[in-house]
Amino acid sequence: MNSFVHLNPTRLIFGKGTLSQLGSQLKPFVKKVLVVYGGGSIKRNGIYEDVMEQLIGTGASVFELSGVEPNPRLTTVHKGIDICRKSDIDFILAVGGGSVIDCVKAIAVGVKYDGDVWDIISKKQSPQSALPYGTVLTLAATGSEMNAASVITNWETKEKYGWYAHFNHPQFSILDPVFTFSVPLDQTVNGIVDIMSHIFEQYFHHKPNSPVQDGFCESLLRTVIAAAPKLVSNLEDYESRETILYAGTMALNGTLSMGTGGDWATHNIEHAVSAVYDIAHGAGLAVLFPCWMEHVVNEGLERFKQMAVHVFGIDPAGKTDRETAMEGIQALRNFWKSIGAPSRLADFQIGDEQLEVMADKAMAKGSFGEIKRLQREDVLSIYSRAL
Ligand code: NZQ
Ligand code: ZN
Repeated sequence: MNSFVHLNPTRLIFGKGTLSQLGSQLKPFVKKVLVVYGGGSIKRNGIYEDVMEQLIGTGASVFELSGVEPNPRLTTVHKGIDICRKSDIDFILAVGGGSVIDCVKAIAVGVKYDGDVWDIISKKQSPQSALPYGTVLTLAATGSEMNAASVITNWETKEKYGWYAHFNHPQFSILDPVFTFSVPLDQTVNGIVDIMSHIFEQYFHHKPNSPVQDGFCESLLRTVIAAAPKLVSNLEDYESRETILYAGTMALNGTLSMGTGGDWATHNIEHAVSAVYDIAHGAGLAVLFPCWMEHVVNEGLERFKQMAVHVFGIDPAGKTDRETAMEGIQALRNFWKSIGAPSRLADFQIGDEQLEVMADKAMAKGSFGEIKRLQREDVLSIYSRAL
């Protein structure tokens, strides 16, 4: 593995009833708090009232920004920056899924930057500082609650970019599995696919000697695969909600990739699809990940075979490495299909009309990927395979 430094300063507050700790997390230093949330799910499931009760108890003045879109948009980030500046906000609280948290991350650095925050998101400028923020997570998927990454869409130019600032972790994140009971079936499945995809992105690399990292990844994958069918058959099953929520955080808080990094090509390829068609990120990954795997399998045969054997329990006896690897990829397709994930771009009425446009967007920052460095023709081939 490579040398590495690891620091994750987010205070993770996990478990049933932990929202009661929100007030005490804010009290010592917060005078004006901006609460940011999405399209209304927190009002329907009662989380909004519980959060407000805690905030009122702190004596802080409370401001609100609602309507953060799934695939959060730059225009909403701008609105949040305006509120923070006009009202002299000293803390931001994200209440929602990855989209709300990602929007807050961009608001937090945007407030401290003189130009347009898009300069930072599109990596033309480096952020220097950020307002502090915390999160109350309501959906298990992105890991955004315990990392410093964010993904924002510029809907005018149809560009969607992931960006990162090492100092921009949440101060704290509160995760109560009960808050995820109301996540509908399709979003629950998208979340499971996203979590598994994050693990795959870090599992597939060419660094030597990573038995600890491999073991973490394989164990997490097996755990999610065991819990997911139980959860999709009973969306209010506490134990499986708890398992998936914890797995989602562990999948993308830096633990799995210390010294190894990862591939991350499929996320880049998916972001280009959701930038153009505004589909759910996890749903796009369910279609694209197996196609990426088939496209690059020969460049990482040992690893794909290892996944097949260690994660899906495929017996390699009497098979070539390639046959075992391909069985593993098919097992992944079958598993995602069995929990109701989409498997083709056609499931979203996406045809071949915009493949070139999406490929251009995916290639905007040059070639990418570790298992195989992908060029434009590779990306086009993966999209075509996914039609
Ligand atoms: O907007 P509301 O009304 O809250 O509804 C949301 C939204 O419609 C709903 N929802 C959330 N919690 C709920 C709930 N509905 C009922 N009950 C609850 N408890 O679910 C819908 C989807 O929410 P969203 O936040 O968009 O989902 P997710 O957490 O999957 O986030 C997706 C975004 O995160 C980015 C994706 O690209 C996408 O833009 N990602 C961020 C990453 C990161 N920051 O590290 C990494 C990921 O790979 C990903 O790219
Ligand atoms: Zn993801």
